Amino acid sequence: MHISIFASGSGSNAQRIIEYFREKGLQAEFSILTNNAQAYVIERAKQLEVPFKIVSRKAFKEAKDVLEFLEEKNAQLIVLAGFLQLVPEALTQKYTRRIINIHPALLPKFGGKGMYGHFVHEAVVAAGEQESGITIHYVNERYDEGEAILQKSCPVETGDTPDDVARKVQQLEHQYFPKVVEELAKQLSEKQGR
Ligand code: GRF
Repeated sequence: MHISIFASGSGSNAQRIIEYFREKGLQAEFSILTNNAQAYVIERAKQLEVPFKIVSRKAFKEAKDVLEFLEEKNAQLIVLAGFLQLVPEALTQKYTRRIINIHPALLPKFGGKGMYGHFVHEAVVAAGEQESGITIHYVNERYDEGEAILQKSCPVETGDTPDDVARKVQQLEHQYFPKVVEELAKQLSEKQGR
């Protein structure tokens, strides 16, 4: 099973997923694709000895290079982990229910275009929310609107700063995203095995 992780942030989720699979001796190869040549995730790919590909935002939107890369790797599952660009229809149509994303809030609240990274946690604190959390969902043509797979929450306590919320949410991400990827990979392998 080949799993391609699209990431353009610090890459901590990408690293956690790959390390989790390796620690558990799970059969999977990984690749990392990014649309940001400066992303820290490239350093992590090199340290993890995982092949990576850099595509420009324009090339990603045109999808051709990405589709060729995924076919070359025979990718069966695509995991967005801090990848902010909308996924073009050519990809969502070909990899239906095989592209997932993690959003650092309890969708449908605090989702959609522009709601990413620290802005999410600032909005949650500003809104006086009692809780926040993560939403792992299938990806379709619209930001953050695919069917949810898993949601986990954490308390937002009085006096919590956006940084405090970010830390609690990231702990949930690192705890649950690898497990969801493992479960989905298992389901896909069984389906192919049939
Ligand atoms: C995470 O907060 C994730 O929920 C969001 O982007 C961030 C990625 O962080 N999609 P990292 O690059 O994996 O550290």
